[in-house]
Amino acid sequence: MDSYERLIDGNRKFAMGKKMDDPEYFKKLSLGQTPEYLWIGCSDSRVPANEITNTKSGEIFVHRNIANVVVHTDFNLLSVVEYAVEVLKVKHIIVCGHYGCGGVRASMTNNTHGFVDNWLRNIKEVYSKYKVELEAISDFDKRADRLTELNVIEQVKNLAKTKTIQDAWKTRKLQVHGWVYGLNSGLIKDLKVLHDDMGDLEPIFRYDI
Ligand code: CO
Repeated sequence: MDSYERLIDGNRKFAMGKKMDDPEYFKKLSLGQTPEYLWIGCSDSRVPANEITNTKSGEIFVHRNIANVVVHTDFNLLSVVEYAVEVLKVKHIIVCGHYGCGGVRASMTNNTHGFVDNWLRNIKEVYSKYKVELEAISDFDKRADRLTELNVIEQVKNLAKTKTIQDAWKTRKLQVHGWVYGLNSGLIKDLKVLHDDMGDLEPIFRYDI
């Protein structure tokens, strides 16, 4: 069997298993989605949102890109955030990075990797902002781990700077969280950088004053 055929075969087994547990499973799911969470994670194949949080289809709205970056000119991400916040009315947005992130590690070198260099520039800016703290860490892996955390923290702040999220905060509760997943442990670390109002935001980024 070709490796791609494994997926079709796997899908048939999946569909059959679900129907055996609950004959109405797909009928119910097809009626609509009401996820409480928006997940912004890395494209890395080892960090699948549903699997690592033990959640099911319909529970998490997902956006993934290389190194979980929130760029204010990225219409893909902005569309996902707007739909999740204004239509689905998610209660939580989670930016989840992961230790051992290839994108974060690549951004710390002076090598070129093609088109992605432009994307990783966003992480180089995070590095530059925290250069003193990062360069006090001599071990490359540990420095990459810290940059992974700082990158998540900055992307949480970038979400808070969007008008979509600021508008939501005027009328309802919406929490933005920063997490890092450990590939070695399978465990998520909550960085405790919760944003749930504009209080922590530099005034220049606020649209209400
Ligand atoms: Co990654």
